[in-house]
Amino acid sequence: MIGRLNHVAIAVPDLEAATTTYRDTLGATVSEQKVEPKHGVTVVFVELPNTKIELLHPLDENSPIAAFLSKNPSGGMHHICYEVDDIIKARDQMKSEGARVLGDGEPKIGAHGKPVLFLHPRDFCGTLVELEQA
Ligand code: CO
Repeated sequence: MIGRLNHVAIAVPDLEAATTTYRDTLGATVSEQKVEPKHGVTVVFVELPNTKIELLHPLDENSPIAAFLSKNPSGGMHHICYEVDDIIKARDQMKSEGARVLGDGEPKIGAHGKPVLFLHPRDFCGTLVELEQA
């Protein structure tokens, strides 16, 4: 049911340093910083030939990324995003298999202007999973 890997998101304590690492050390194409108040983050997009990496930095202490960084001070993988054709169908099928959908279970418009949902990490090998309707 899941399709392409849309992105891997990495929470970082220092966005400038992370940008330098990806742009200069790893030689990737890195976007300007984009502030996303609705998601409580500033994000930088790393464009790779086959997918994207998103570097997430909290806007303030209320950001969910701030809580993640307090447990993982040097940063770490925050979530992985898979594309699905029909997010409602995918959600209902995963729920029928016992997977837990976070929040109120309804898709929200994500960072790319498309409907997204998050699935409980305990149901997916310890990894927070985002589904995005491609
Ligand atoms: Co994401």
